[in-house]
Amino acid sequence: MLNRQGRPTQAGAASHEERATFTGNKALQQIEPLIFEIGHHEATGVDIDKPAPFKSRLGKHARQGEIGLPGLSEPETMRHYVRLSQKNYGIDTGLFPLGSCTMKHNARLNEKMARLPGFSDVHPLQPFSTVPGALELMLELARYLMTLTGMPAVALSPKAGAHGEACGMMAIKAAIEAKGEGASRNVVLVPESAHGTNPATAALIGFSVKAVPARPDGTVAVEDVKALLGPDIAAIMLTNPNTCGIFEPQIVEIAAAMHEAGAYFYCDGANFNAIVGKARPGDLGVDAMHINLHKTFSTPHGGGGPGAGPVVLSARLAPFAPVPFIHVEDDGRLHLIETREEAPEGNKPFGRMTAFHGQMGMYVRALAYMLSHGSDGMRQASEDAVLNANYIRAGLSDLMSLPFPDHPSMHEVLFDDEWLKGTGVSTLDFAKAMIDEGYHPMTVYFPLVVHGAMLIEPTESESKASLDLFIATLRDLAMSAKGNDKERFTSAPHHAPIGRLDETRAARQPVLKWEKPAPAKAAE
Ligand SMILES: Cc1ncc(COP(=O)(O)O)c(C=O)c1O
Repeated sequence: MLNRQGRPTQAGAASHEERATFTGNKALQQIEPLIFEIGHHEATGVDIDKPAPFKSRLGKHARQGEIGLPGLSEPETMRHYVRLSQKNYGIDTGLFPLGSCTMKHNARLNEKMARLPGFSDVHPLQPFSTVPGALELMLELARYLMTLTGMPAVALSPKAGAHGEACGMMAIKAAIEAKGEGASRNVVLVPESAHGTNPATAALIGFSVKAVPARPDGTVAVEDVKALLGPDIAAIMLTNPNTCGIFEPQIVEIAAAMHEAGAYFYCDGANFNAIVGKARPGDLGVDAMHINLHKTFSTPHGGGGPGAGPVVLSARLAPFAPVPFIHVEDDGRLHLIETREEAPEGNKPFGRMTAFHGQMGMYVRALAYMLSHGSDGMRQASEDAVLNANYIRAGLSDLMSLPFPDHPSMHEVLFDDEWLKGTGVSTLDFAKAMIDEGYHPMTVYFPLVVHGAMLIEPTESESKASLDLFIATLRDLAMSAKGNDKERFTSAPHHAPIGRLDETRAARQPVLKWEKPAPAKAAE
């Protein structure tokens, strides 16, 4: 007997608990084949009139056979995509402890604001005179970002953190070239604990990268930076709080050392959500820092298009900010500067990074978040993010090992795999077993400076009850791992529709294209 996927059903073959169902579904967890596997060329959800006879001008370019697109009726189409959407694990379905990624609640008020037709229907090619409200909103967002970071300028157009890194580093490059040092200052320092995008960005922009060693306590020491400084150093890219969830204690000294050596300080601001309202990067000596609006200001990751990764700039870098940008005329009128030639005196934009000014929906959501929280609310969000991470740390640190126990955690807590030694269970196995318990795993094997890293970031969105359940679940798993229940881990997940994948094969030989299966051979 064949099930919906055309595969032989095993119904009746196994014990009640493990018996496969006729359909392959597990209760409401429905298997969803690819649309190519369930669609038919001849099916369509719409009734289109046959076109009137016409003379084709395509000649030999005219298609000879069927295009082969799968067709479904309207209800089948709805079901297919709704079922696919239900396979997502998201912040709206459960605690999402991915460290460094900051999966916090996307407030519905922000969504409502972004859907106001005056914002959602704006077209980037609309005449400038018809969108003054949108520009005012962008200026207001820029004002908030500059106030919160203590920086005098911001470029709004980058589309994400990594794109913001590129923007900040291009501004640094332009500033170095303007000083006539372009040929000699071509090395960027990147700590070993950095996110992979940092060295990649520096290399993409044409710098060579030198690693700054990580101290045994997970931080960067000013002496190690000073030892690498010279006339060839263009900048350092340093994350603060760093990727181990620790506030860099010597950040001010590091910034001063960079400036003294004629170099710049790029701060990776991915973890700004830990310090909003508590510390201003401008006061720490930062020259450029991207802000992932989807992390710190709760815009959705993805969110119907590209995101937004504005970059705040110091006075030294502000003149090099890319076009387009909004210029406020002396009489208060707003003017959108689109080209280098139009830029007001003193501005030397390094170029343009994006076709248009940015992702309006993200700007609206981020500003709605800021206005609805107020300054006290944003400060409390940072405090609660730190409190929640430390609550998890306190709830687990008797069972799981902390690589840097002497530093308090900021918004995320980092464990290593020391505590798993001798159990036969790896960090990956532990993460997979979390899926069986209904949790998306934490970030694993990052940062690389820690063996078998497990980086947990609960964010401020989680209630005490939700944190307690998470801690209790991880405690249960940890005790199982220590109690020799290897099977719970090494072949996990057991309850997910798809079990353990060969991740190496998936990475090395990805199947990116659906191939039509060969027709089944007739039964003998
Ligand atoms: C420390 C750090 N830097 C940079 C990035 C890149 O940001 P994005 O994913 O927005 O490009 C991330 C993303 O997770 C990050 O955690």
